[in-house]
Amino acid sequence: MLKEKIKWNEKYKTLTLKPPSPLLNYIPNTINKKALDLAGGLGRNAYELVKKGYVVDLIDISDIAISKINHPKINTFCLDLDNYIIPQNEYDVIIKIKYFNLNLLKQTANALKKDGYFIFETIPKYSISKNEFFEIFKSFDIIHLNENPFQFVGVKCGCD
Ligand SMILES: C[S@@+](CC[C@H](N)C(=O)[O-])C[C@H]1O[C@@H](n2cnc3c(N)ncnc32)[C@H](O)[C@@H]1O
Repeated sequence: MLKEKIKWNEKYKTLTLKPPSPLLNYIPNTINKKALDLAGGLGRNAYELVKKGYVVDLIDISDIAISKINHPKINTFCLDLDNYIIPQNEYDVIIKIKYFNLNLLKQTANALKKDGYFIFETIPKYSISKNEFFEIFKSFDIIHLNENPFQFVGVKCGCD
């Protein structure tokens, strides 16, 4: 969405890299498994995933943010997630932190491989009912859950 791109590009002219989300502590270390960082911004969480051994696809609408990321294990894509279809059964980890898009959320469960981790945190102005959320992630084991802000870390158990 052009409005979002302009808004975030303006912010990223001056924003600097913040520490990664503590939720990433739930993710196990690995060697070269695949992670997806949806609306990853300047890559604070993607860099942490790389430290844990992942190769990361990071998508964000801001070309300014993307232009500031330079790491051989982070593949960047400047795309509008409003129109994005995530490939199915592709990722070992997906993170979606401080960005809300219901259509994308619904795709996430299928985009993860079995035993894949999903990390989600939403900002207060957006909401999804608990029933709707847990209907989407009914095949996940819950590792961490928090009400406010709403946080979820789950592992796809492979059973429906
Ligand atoms: C609050 S920031 C969060 C960034 C990152 N997830 C983090 O935790 O640091 C929201 C991000 O969403 C991105 N964004 C907003 N609308 C988008 C869209 N339609 N498609 C892709 N990225 C979008 C912004 O550019 C921004 O980087």
